[in-house]
Amino acid sequence: VVCSLKPAASSSLSVAESATSESLSRIRSLSQVSGVLGSQWGDEGKGKLVDILAEHFDIVARCQGGANAGHTIYNSEGKKFALHLVPSGILNEETLCVIGNGVVVHLPGLFKEIDGLEANGVSCKGRILVSDRAHLLFDFHQVVDGLREAELAKSLIGTTRRGIGPCYSNKMIRNGIRVSDLRHMDTFPQKLDILLADAASRFPGFNYTPEMLREEVENYKRFAERLEPFIADTVHVMNESIAQKKRILVEGGQATMLDIDFGTYPFVTSSSPSAGGICTGLGIAPRVVGDLIGVVKAYTTRVGSGPFPTEILGQRGDILRFAGQEFGTTTGRPRRCGWLDIVALKFCCQINGFSSLNLTKLDVLSDLPEIRLGVTYKQVDGTPFQSYPSDLRLLEQLKVEYEVLPGWKCDISSIRNYSDLPKAAQQYVERIEELVGVPVHYIGVGPSRDALILK
Ligand code: GTP
Repeated sequence: VVCSLKPAASSSLSVAESATSESLSRIRSLSQVSGVLGSQWGDEGKGKLVDILAEHFDIVARCQGGANAGHTIYNSEGKKFALHLVPSGILNEETLCVIGNGVVVHLPGLFKEIDGLEANGVSCKGRILVSDRAHLLFDFHQVVDGLREAELAKSLIGTTRRGIGPCYSNKMIRNGIRVSDLRHMDTFPQKLDILLADAASRFPGFNYTPEMLREEVENYKRFAERLEPFIADTVHVMNESIAQKKRILVEGGQATMLDIDFGTYPFVTSSSPSAGGICTGLGIAPRVVGDLIGVVKAYTTRVGSGPFPTEILGQRGDILRFAGQEFGTTTGRPRRCGWLDIVALKFCCQINGFSSLNLTKLDVLSDLPEIRLGVTYKQVDGTPFQSYPSDLRLLEQLKVEYEVLPGWKCDISSIRNYSDLPKAAQQYVERIEELVGVPVHYIGVGPSRDALILK
């Protein structure tokens, strides 16, 4: 694949035109390779920031996860797009979108997304590259995901049942099928047969028939043909682009607290949504990765099971759930809601080395008379617990100590300058900066593209 790109539009001032030139120059001075990563349990609103920053970058790349990510973005006319596999840079017509080797790709889903974008006037031809090393996620992976969850019964992981875990399992036990295998249709049926037979032997509820294999092979013959123009050695493309001084923005899916290594295991995803996943999922060197922006909601949410120390239980959580429309983009499931957990956020900042934060959904807190920040975890004997515990039993026993800050009790969704925010809202933002030691450079005050304050 020949990668011919126009230089990133450096003169565009469309982001928050009221922003100070200092903050705009800060966006432009983000490192050549920068990243936007989730720093809670996902759904922080990464998609919006990626979409906004995309015009300052030549490439937007996904490095991990699959269609379990659910980015919601709005174009300049306010049209809503829910993206799952296609990087959020797609609405910016100059941007090349790369789906890296670390991503697991469900082709029917990808084509559906591409069809939806094209039907809405977003051209995808020549603008999306799919790594030849990426693993293919088949429909049967989704069936297996459901069977696994059913088997776990009470200790559900709470997966999106998109087949992500089973696909990564096949990758790790080394019988997975990669995009490059689509170029060898002579051996493809045998490889798929091994995968399906393996699933059938593990799960009695999985009814594998020769007809199923025949049908899936026929489907994939068609998919292979359609995907061919999108397939690329993206490791080469990425490294060549870096050498040519192209600007690259990495779009994280999920978040550090769902990281397979650092998250609240086993209630995690099957990939590395933190900084390390950028290098393994794109094939680029750590030394080229520069600024990483951590996206954090002004409160906390999580979907599915697992400990959640600052959770607001019962109906009180509904206030945030409805004000923040906290229902999954991918599954529609209501999200659990709670106060901002500073201990977890500091842990994420440590692991990822964030250079700045994007505090999203500050507007959702506008009706509250007072707002809490979970600042310390205390053990039963009252001593503070340092860092974030790996032991979930211990985590459940810890008590959260809160700081209570005043609310601002007014609508802030049309404010675009930091200095125009009510004093209590500024105090909230500045207290977060002080506690975690990382500056907040971007503040979300609404879902639309322009509802962003550059601080
Ligand atoms: P995952 O990769 O699945 O974790 O998703 P994400 O982090 O990209 O989150 P998503 O794009 O789904 O954003 C969550 C929701 O918040 C979407 O509906 C956004 O439109 C909305 N949103 C983003 N920023 C803001 C904000 O500042 N205020 C409000 N009210 N909504 C916002």
